Amino acid sequence: MMTTADSTPLLEVVDLRKTFVDRYFETPVLKGINFTLARGEMVAMQGSSGSGKSTLLTILGTLLAPTSGTFRMLGQDLTRLTESQLSEFRNRYIGFIFQHHHLLPDFTALENVVFPHAGRVGRETRVGLERAAMLLERVGLSDRKHYRATRLSGGQKQRVAIARALMNEPSLVLADEPTGNLDRDTANQSFELLTEIQRETGTTFLLSTHDELLASRCERRIRLLDGVVVTTPAH
Ligand SMILES: Nc1ncnc2c1ncn2[C@@H]1O[C@H](COP(=O)(O)OP(=O)(O)OP(=O)(O)O)[C@@H](O)[C@H]1O
Ligand SMILES: [Mg+2]
Repeated sequence: MMTTADSTPLLEVVDLRKTFVDRYFETPVLKGINFTLARGEMVAMQGSSGSGKSTLLTILGTLLAPTSGTFRMLGQDLTRLTESQLSEFRNRYIGFIFQHHHLLPDFTALENVVFPHAGRVGRETRVGLERAAMLLERVGLSDRKHYRATRLSGGQKQRVAIARALMNEPSLVLADEPTGNLDRDTANQSFELLTEIQRETGTTFLLSTHDELLASRCERRIRLLDGVVVTTPAH
């Protein structure tokens, strides 16, 4: 779809704003967000509850339009694409991990993981199923491939969600409190898995978290404060 020199940032966000408007209220949430993500880095996004982390991740994931401003990913201005171009771009280049895994409950782990691929090529393929099985093995769930999502523990579901996010070999994984629902040990293990995968694949990760310990283990942190980004150096 596009080629760009590797020296360009993966993501450049410029003066991004979002104000929610309904009949009675205007709620300004993002008030001029500026930051870039280099290829292959793992960045934690912090900020108090209501500071706009989920809103920003949803916009960067092209699931919600900003009020103004631009963001470029892989050199492409995503604020200028049509809905169908966006959905193709999203499916090809972006993976999502949510706090509440969002697995399809009646489908097996394998079917959940292959889902984004099937969406992209129009059906489940043997190659897709093989990759899904490989990813499940990578997240330590080979023995749960054929279990329905409802038969998995919380930590296992979250590992399936990680595998699913990686299915289409995305350039960027957006994770909204990926360990927010897990106990300390399981959260640490999931985070460890994410960092290993990030190192192995060179995928860029932007993850929101309230977990200070995990944020401090990312290469870099950004903080949302009063609608703008404050950069915190890693220590
Ligand atoms: N559809 C909407 N209409 C109006 N206001 C909204 C809407 N969605 C979110 N908001 C407001 O935007 C603000 C930011 O919400 P958001 O969910 O992005 O915060 P957050 O940083 O992810 O918080 P948390 O840490 O609790 O998940 C909140 O004040 C919320 O009330
Ligand atoms: Mg949130």
